[in-house]
Amino acid sequence: MQLIEAIKARRAIRQFKPDTVSDAFIKELLDAARLAPSGTNLQPWRFVVVKSNEAKTKLGEGTPLPFVSQAPVVIACCVDSLALATVGQRLKELREAGALSGTPLEEPNSSSFSKRPSMDEATTKAYLWLNAAIAIDHITLRAVDLGLGTCWVMMFDQDKVKKALDLEDRYSVVALIPVGYPDHNPAPRPRMTLDEIILKEL
Ligand SMILES: Cc1cc2nc3c(=O)[nH]c(=O)nc-3n(C[C@H](O)[C@H](O)[C@H](O)COP(=O)(O)O)c2cc1C
Repeated sequence: MQLIEAIKARRAIRQFKPDTVSDAFIKELLDAARLAPSGTNLQPWRFVVVKSNEAKTKLGEGTPLPFVSQAPVVIACCVDSLALATVGQRLKELREAGALSGTPLEEPNSSSFSKRPSMDEATTKAYLWLNAAIAIDHITLRAVDLGLGTCWVMMFDQDKVKKALDLEDRYSVVALIPVGYPDHNPAPRPRMTLDEIILKEL
C-alpha cells in the first residue's frame, strides 16, 4: 500500500471483530514504531502488549471507553522518563553512524548542545510525549497497511492504567491503542480545509 493510501484510509476504529490478531502482525506494528524518528534519536517509547482477557479487563477499569478492552489487543504506549539520561550514548551512536557529519553537531563538545536551554518538567514531558506520538502514529498507519484498525485513546486514568499494567514510576502511559480487525467502515471524519490551516506563505 502506498503511504498516501494508508493516510487517507486510516480511521479511528471503535468497533472490532473478535478475530485474533497474529503475533507476527503485532510485531510488525511495534517494528514500525521502532523505526520512528526522535530527538537526538532518544527513542523514549516503550510498549506493553495487552492480549489476555484478564489483563484487558484490569486495563478496562482505567478507561471509560469499553471498546478499548473489547479489542483483541491493546498496545499501551509509554515513555521512559529515564531515556533522557541516555542522550550521551545516543549522540555517540549517531556520530559513529556518521549521521551528524558535516554539521555543527559532529563535534563531541559541540556548543550547539551545551547552549540548548534546559527543559523544565512540563517541557520535558511534552518532548518525550511528542517523540512517542510519532511512533504511535507509525503504528496506526502500519495497521491500515495490514488491514487492521486502531484508535488513539487518551481518555484514561494514568494511575489506574499504570497500576493495571504494573508499571514502574519511571514510565508514563501516553496512549492506549486498541488493535483489531475493524467491524465498521466509517466515512472520513471532518477536516479543516487547507486554507484554514495554512497561516501564510512567506
Ligand atoms: C492524541 C489523540 C487522542 C485521542 N484520544 C481519543 C480518545 O481518548 N477516545 C477516542 O474515542 N478517540 C480518541 N482519539 C481519536 C480522535 O477522536 C480521532 O482521531 C478524530 O476524531 C478524527 O477521526 P479519524 O481518526 O477517524 O480521522 C484521539 C486521537 C488523537 C490523535
